[in-house]
Amino acid sequence: MKIIIDTEENIAKKAAQQYIDLLSKKPDAVLGYATGSTPLGLYAELAALCDAGKISFKDVTTFNLDEYVGLDGTHDQSYRYFMNTNLFEKIDIPIEKTHVPSGLDLDIAAEYDKDIEKAGGIDLQLLGIGVDGHIGFNEPGTPLDSITHVVDLLENTREVNARFFASIDDVPTQAVTMGVKTVMNARDIILIALGKSKAEIVERMINGPITTDVPASVLQLHPSVTVYLDSDAAALL
Ligand code: GLP
Repeated sequence: MKIIIDTEENIAKKAAQQYIDLLSKKPDAVLGYATGSTPLGLYAELAALCDAGKISFKDVTTFNLDEYVGLDGTHDQSYRYFMNTNLFEKIDIPIEKTHVPSGLDLDIAAEYDKDIEKAGGIDLQLLGIGVDGHIGFNEPGTPLDSITHVVDLLENTREVNARFFASIDDVPTQAVTMGVKTVMNARDIILIALGKSKAEIVERMINGPITTDVPASVLQLHPSVTVYLDSDAAALL
């Protein structure tokens, strides 16, 4: 794992540079995107670069990590809506080349890994990390060989994500997520963690044993992971 500790602003710039480098070599790359508050700075940076003509996503295909079960793409807390409003509508990507697992049709969601494979596999997967070590919605205990599947969200994850909903009762109880194996199949991975609340799990991800108890720890086995941390998230390293 390559660890880079910097300010939130510089992390957005440095991570964006990885996208510039990749797309200059491979304009039709397949990108894996993530939701949550962590990638927002990077998404703003990518949108600004696209606006300035320094990067183009017109030949890119994207696959998002996860989606809540039961929310359609027009729901303002669906991850499809999040991606459309925070990134896809702000860059030059044809919307039909963007994929988010269906939270409504689970038969379609079951084909997600095949769709990724048909597109050529993911070149660069972006990840955040949950305070319990989840990547995507792969909660502790998820098997390492898992592909895209439906998960029951842990109560703690629902509580953490409740800040985006009117009340905790509105937070879905299930999600569809790429599996740990789906993520590990990506050629390159960027993981960003910001803030004090991530410090403990970041330390376990990087220095702890590789265990399904901390799903992100399996990234230690991946040949090309860049971890971007602000000083708060890196505090216990
Ligand atoms: C959610 C998402 C994850 C994300 C995590 C952290 O549960 N499914 O993909 O990494 O939250 O979110 P945040 O970046 O808001 O801390």
